[in-house]
Amino acid sequence: MKKIIVTLAIVTATLSATNYTKEDRIKDMQIMASAMQDIQNGFFYNNFDMIKVGTTKLTKTIVKVEPPLEEVEEKDVMTRYVNNKVQISNSIKRRINKKTKVLLERFSQGDTVQAIHAFTKITKECMKCHTQLRNW
Ligand code: HEC
Repeated sequence: MKKIIVTLAIVTATLSATNYTKEDRIKDMQIMASAMQDIQNGFFYNNFDMIKVGTTKLTKTIVKVEPPLEEVEEKDVMTRYVNNKVQISNSIKRRINKKTKVLLERFSQGDTVQAIHAFTKITKECMKCHTQLRNW
């Protein structure tokens, strides 16, 4: 009986790992919004630790973001369009990661102006995805 429960738990865990839902994405978005706030507070309080907390949260979360399963499995004429959206997402994700590295580097060198510049660029990437995927 115990074995069955353990097996079930593993199967469920494996399934949910690949089954990225809209709810997961909304949750990840909210984590990223709070990460951006942490980074911004880091600037205001001139606190590198806050910035590190924020950038770690951001980079850990952005890698998880993907089109939810229901969008990926779309079988009609939308498929090509959806695949296209995935590519857009991936390049935006890469750029966000790159800018986050730059932000950390610049801030650690005392170059706040360039660090804030990188922060603005990250915000622009967030908005790029929102306008392309959501027409916000
Ligand atoms: C890969 C594309 C993509 C990127 C990159 C992206 N977002 Fe989003 N974001 C979305 C989509 C799609 C939604 C809508 C989710 C839904 O309602 O199903 C969303 C929704 C949100 C929401 C609203 C969540 C809610 O509670 O309804 C916030 C906040 C948000 N994003 C913040 C961010 C921040 C901050 C960044 C940059 C660090 C970012 N997003 C980058 C695609 C993206």
